[in-house]
Amino acid sequence: MAGVTDAGMRRVAQRRGASLAFSEMVASAGLMQGDAECGARAESVPGAPFAVQLVGCEPASMAQAARRLADDGADLIDINMGCPARRVAGALAGSALMRDLDAAARILEAVVGAVAAPVTLKTRLGWDEASRNAAALAQRAQSVGVKLITIHGRTRCQFYQGAADWKAVAEIVEAVSIPVVVNGDCNGVEDARAMLAASGAAGVMIGRAATGRPWLPGAIARALDSGGPATPPAPDDRHADAAQHLEHLLTRMGGRSGLRHARKHLAAYVDEEGAPAELRRALVTTETPGEAFALLARAYDVDRRRAA
Ligand SMILES: Cc1cc2nc3c(=O)[nH]c(=O)nc-3n(C[C@H](O)[C@H](O)[C@H](O)COP(=O)(O)O)c2cc1C
Repeated sequence: MAGVTDAGMRRVAQRRGASLAFSEMVASAGLMQGDAECGARAESVPGAPFAVQLVGCEPASMAQAARRLADDGADLIDINMGCPARRVAGALAGSALMRDLDAAARILEAVVGAVAAPVTLKTRLGWDEASRNAAALAQRAQSVGVKLITIHGRTRCQFYQGAADWKAVAEIVEAVSIPVVVNGDCNGVEDARAMLAASGAAGVMIGRAATGRPWLPGAIARALDSGGPATPPAPDDRHADAAQHLEHLLTRMGGRSGLRHARKHLAAYVDEEGAPAELRRALVTTETPGEAFALLARAYDVDRRRAA
């Protein structure tokens, strides 16, 4: 999730059992121009599959960026045709490509032709209620060699409003023979079971619910296999995850900027622990890395549990 996740969070998610963690969307043009933010988003996680998502509207630029990522070791290239942001769709990229399936197919074909790595697609049900054309896009994608499609069960014009329509994803599952992953509003294993049952999809993608809970996708995967509940890691492990995520951001971005980027994650981590409001406030306002680590330890009650 662009502007939210980062390689540090993906690292924790994969260590805790997520099958695959896609990078935040990387603009093909920005990557080729050496944009620092694009470079950071395209950072791999050691020991885990390196799945990078590209966004753009020019087949040649997308192919060039995909080749560059493959040269850098990408195991999988995902193409974003779902981002609803006006900044992206206004540039005829992301979800705007659902309005022009010929343009979408040209991009997919160019990227598939450029790399040996599997190419996958992330999209939505359609642009709006009147044009739910994801099944047609999925068929075009499959015919040019795309290997897997993830469908967020909303239209572009819904942005994030209303509930994701998991049942509507069944139409796309039936339209293609490649695996389809269902996405939208998965907050736990019961949702995941319902999503799979309603759609017949091969897998579930989790976005927002993993903020503050990067262990969640792995716990859901295990619960789906075992039929049991999704169990969080022990508090010491959750603390270690949060501290490692913070450490990653400080190392990559430097103290001030790393702390600023970490705030939303730190808030989400300590909300999960039911931390008191003043501790949370101190954590999201501190300018000092050492204090951030100390406050984080307090939120997980590390001292009390060590003494017990
Ligand atoms: C702030 C934000 C940034 C996002 N960035 C991306 C992105 O870069 N690439 C992408 O495929 N989806 C992106 N998404 C969409 C999510 O991946 C997901 O499809 C959507 O949030 C619905 O799933 P969820 O309910 O599990 O979060 C973003 C969502 C949010 C809220």
